[in-house]
Amino acid sequence: MAKIKSVYVCQSCGTQSPKWIGKCPACDEWNTYVEEQVGGAAEKELTNWREEGAKTGGSKAVRLHEIEANSEKRIITYDQELNRVLGGGIVHGSMVLIGGEPGIGKSTLMLQLALSSKRLKVLYVSGEESQQQIKMRAQRIGQSSENCFILAETSTQNIFNHIREIQPHILVIDSIQTLSTPRIESAAGSVSQVRECTAELLKFAKESNTPVFLVGHITKEGGLAGPKVLEHMVDTVLQFEGDRHLAYRILRTVKNRFGSTSELGIYEMQSTGLREVSNPSEILISQREEDSPGVAIGASIEGNRPLLIEIQSLVSTASYGTPQRNSNGFDGKRLNMLLAVLEKRGGFRLSSQDVFLNVAGGIKIEEPALDLAVCASLVSGLHDSPISDQTAFAAEVGLGGEVRAVNRIENRISEAEKLGFKEIFISKYNMKGLDQKKYSIKIRAFSRLTDVFGELLG
Ligand code: TYD
Ligand code: MG
Repeated sequence: MAKIKSVYVCQSCGTQSPKWIGKCPACDEWNTYVEEQVGGAAEKELTNWREEGAKTGGSKAVRLHEIEANSEKRIITYDQELNRVLGGGIVHGSMVLIGGEPGIGKSTLMLQLALSSKRLKVLYVSGEESQQQIKMRAQRIGQSSENCFILAETSTQNIFNHIREIQPHILVIDSIQTLSTPRIESAAGSVSQVRECTAELLKFAKESNTPVFLVGHITKEGGLAGPKVLEHMVDTVLQFEGDRHLAYRILRTVKNRFGSTSELGIYEMQSTGLREVSNPSEILISQREEDSPGVAIGASIEGNRPLLIEIQSLVSTASYGTPQRNSNGFDGKRLNMLLAVLEKRGGFRLSSQDVFLNVAGGIKIEEPALDLAVCASLVSGLHDSPISDQTAFAAEVGLGGEVRAVNRIENRISEAEKLGFKEIFISKYNMKGLDQKKYSIKIRAFSRLTDVFGELLG
């Protein structure tokens, strides 16, 4: 057996060093080295592949077509938003990591999953809260389930004992940073503990075909705490985000081995837990009494879902030398590009103006199809002339000031129509093959930005 020795491990990337270093040579992070114990029982010799009967662990290679696919057999939960971000339900034996800032609602989301899956045994393991605290939370949510088991435990060995006894259909670990395995000496939350505990749970998930949800902390910088390998090990990474001061929460797929990564789930945090928001456009467009300058509505698509999004901008004369450019929820570089296009191709004097852009609802959007809405909002803000709240926009804007086509225009138009908009501005190049008669909303097609503003500003 290898001797136990202590090494210093970078908590950011996992690089090891025999002595303490201030700055990690591998990832350039400062003060990330922490002493950890390695070796001992956990350290094993490398397997020699030439050895007769090399330890294959009872596994067997089979031809692809002999493998039974069980992709169709997903667990469909009561939470439609969760089903959507997972790519259509929970895949058996999959491991899902949910990251997010403290207090955003990760534990609430997981407890709601446990309480709503009444016919499936769910074991909810918490290393952060006591059973009483979880009970109080469940009362707040106002649901109960015979099959929801709560365990306050941090040792993986004990957890596995309970798992063998209860045989849950779904396992929730809140959070992975609080677990420790007795096989390793270092403290809970350290890189080696997180990695080992995840490896043990992964083995359990794959061998028993039980889905495992891991709640993960995030660091000050917003990344998932623990080694990057954590993200590689799990099948799906979900990010729970939102402004803590606003009620809306967005569950975003960062990685998914079983589905698309562009899906969004939207929730509202209420006094009785998280509520699914099935028609997000309604919440993303603020209720306005009258038309206000600087506001334009863009028809965006996130994943498979069209979303109408309100872009607000404030344009005011800069009082100091360099004008400010401030963007909330929209890419700052893209905003600068659109400002330059408006200045150069449209002749709008924006270079001496402070510009503040905001996507309503605290949502972050990266879609070129919002370009035209952003431009319209900026010009409306500059001229202090409101755009009708019956108008929506869906087009990309090119460097030459051209209005470009975007994908899935039909979905965008239908969504705008559904929400009662009277007209939508799109690119002329999107008109090919578009059956206008299908829609009652007026479709206005343009090829140049200047024509759009000729129309809007009259
Ligand atoms: P929590 O799930 O504990 O967050 P995390 O596990 O990500 O740290 O969420 C806690 C926050 O949500 C807390 O500020 C209280 C609020 N909350 C509600 O507003 N309503 C509720 O019904 C619940 C359970 C929590
Ligand atoms: Mg929590």
